[in-house]
Amino acid sequence: MGKAHALKLSGAGAKVVLADISQQECQLVADEIIKNKGEAIAVKCDVSQKSEIDNLVSEALKKFGKIDILVNNAGIYPFEPFLQMSEDHFKKVIDINLKGYFLMAQAAAKEMVKQKSGAIVNISSIAMGQVGVGFAGLTHYCASKGGITAMSQAMALELAPFGIRVNCIAPGAIDTPGTHTTEMTEEQKAATVAPIPLKRQGRAEEISNAVLFLASDESSYMTGSTMVVDGGWVAG
Ligand SMILES: NC(=O)c1ccc[n+]([C@@H]2O[C@H](COP(=O)([O-])OP(=O)(O)OC[C@H]3O[C@@H](n4cnc5c(N)ncnc54)[C@H](O)[C@@H]3O)[C@@H](O)[C@H]2O)c1
Repeated sequence: MGKAHALKLSGAGAKVVLADISQQECQLVADEIIKNKGEAIAVKCDVSQKSEIDNLVSEALKKFGKIDILVNNAGIYPFEPFLQMSEDHFKKVIDINLKGYFLMAQAAAKEMVKQKSGAIVNISSIAMGQVGVGFAGLTHYCASKGGITAMSQAMALELAPFGIRVNCIAPGAIDTPGTHTTEMTEEQKAATVAPIPLKRQGRAEEISNAVLFLASDESSYMTGSTMVVDGGWVAG
């Protein structure tokens, strides 16, 4: 989904810094943006490592001078039964999905406070709990996504005096490379979309539309919100 968000934001005029554990993957996206006359750089970054986030922020500032928007999107969702889930696997998901968002948002916000403006968009999930949907086999993931939504509300309160807005998006089932890791039979595919009123998976670009909205001044009166983009799954 990160690729779709980067292309969307670049199309709207943003200069983009792409970050991923795979330098090669994000360089390909940066090249595509540059080919389309946009501006972008790609930086290798493991978001669970503070030193790599510090390097990312410093590369962004070196190239573009300031940070107006942060989209926290990196995440993993390895299915694993609760009773067999090891402490290490639980910790790894929390370190990337939750601690990574915290470290990234803190590093970006420290720059945004200087200019007294900024927009942070955290990609949560309908697995976030409360009005969301529970997912068997994803205890660690659900914990991380609930944490992102709660953390974003607290961040929104603390950063509002600095003109920085913090919002979340809770996508439903979106067709991405990450969801293609297991081959599905036609029956399994039908079961996946059965609880979704619109009867299909979402496209990455449909989440990017929400990212652009929350990153832009079009959402200037929104902070601390979570926008559910799920084809009606939660409503059902
Ligand atoms: N696809 C869905 O149905 C869905 C639904 C709800 C929420 N989400 C969330 O959307 C986001 C994107 O999901 P996706 O489906 O595009 O996943 P994906 O697996 O296709 O892409 C995730 C990306 O994160 C990168 N990544 C993994 N670990 C990293 C790390 N430590 N540091 C930096 N980058 C790292 C991967 O290299 C990959 O490029 C995730 O936060 C995910 O939880 C996805």
